[in-house]
Amino acid sequence: MSTSPPCRIVPLTTAHLDAIVDLERRCFSDPWTRNMFWMELTVGGGTYSRGALREDRLIGYLFAVLVEDEAHLGNLAVDPGYRRQGVAQQLLEDLIAAARGHGGCRVTLEVRESNLEARKFYARNGFLDVAIRKSYYRSPVEDAIVMLFTLPGGPSE
Ligand SMILES: CC(C)(COP(=O)(O)OP(=O)(O)OC[C@H]1O[C@@H](n2cnc3c(N)ncnc32)[C@H](O)[C@@H]1OP(=O)(O)O)[C@@H](O)C(=O)NCCC(=O)NCCS
Repeated sequence: MSTSPPCRIVPLTTAHLDAIVDLERRCFSDPWTRNMFWMELTVGGGTYSRGALREDRLIGYLFAVLVEDEAHLGNLAVDPGYRRQGVAQQLLEDLIAAARGHGGCRVTLEVRESNLEARKFYARNGFLDVAIRKSYYRSPVEDAIVMLFTLPGGPSE
């Protein structure tokens, strides 16, 4: 990892919508739509959304839902020009801290089977492959790997 300075992690608002949509389109073959992000930012019950800023530029974001004892990570992306600088790491650690503060004991997510970069990132952070969802994704159709992280000190530890 480089010695780049840490980012400022901030709650996301609709003021970030243009930057989020632009980044999403550059990161995914099947991007979430503007309306999906709008809903998450305005009416999403339990939504936990954070952006990573460097000099006021949005270079990464994370969307999750905190429900009871689980945090489900729905979206995480980092600007291709700022990868391998610990940005996703900062966002994930922030989510894990929030989940703990919310009484959570696990974090779950789905990831494309072919997305080896993301799978390595999550595995390095203690996530385990626990299930496969057949043909879960579109554009292109692909299976999802369900990954699980159990917070240290949680009930199953
Ligand atoms: C996956 C992603 C979020 C990682 O973001 P990032 O900011 O580059 O990740 P970090 O710098 O915090 O990585 C921390 C560690 O994770 C691992 N890691 C991250 N990216 C990796 C890669 N491409 N290959 C192998 N290991 C990787 C490394 O161990 C890394 O530490 P190191 O750089 O010291 O070796 C980013 O590549 C991305 O946005 N990809 C496209 C969108 C996506 O796939 N999102 C996840 C959907 S489930």
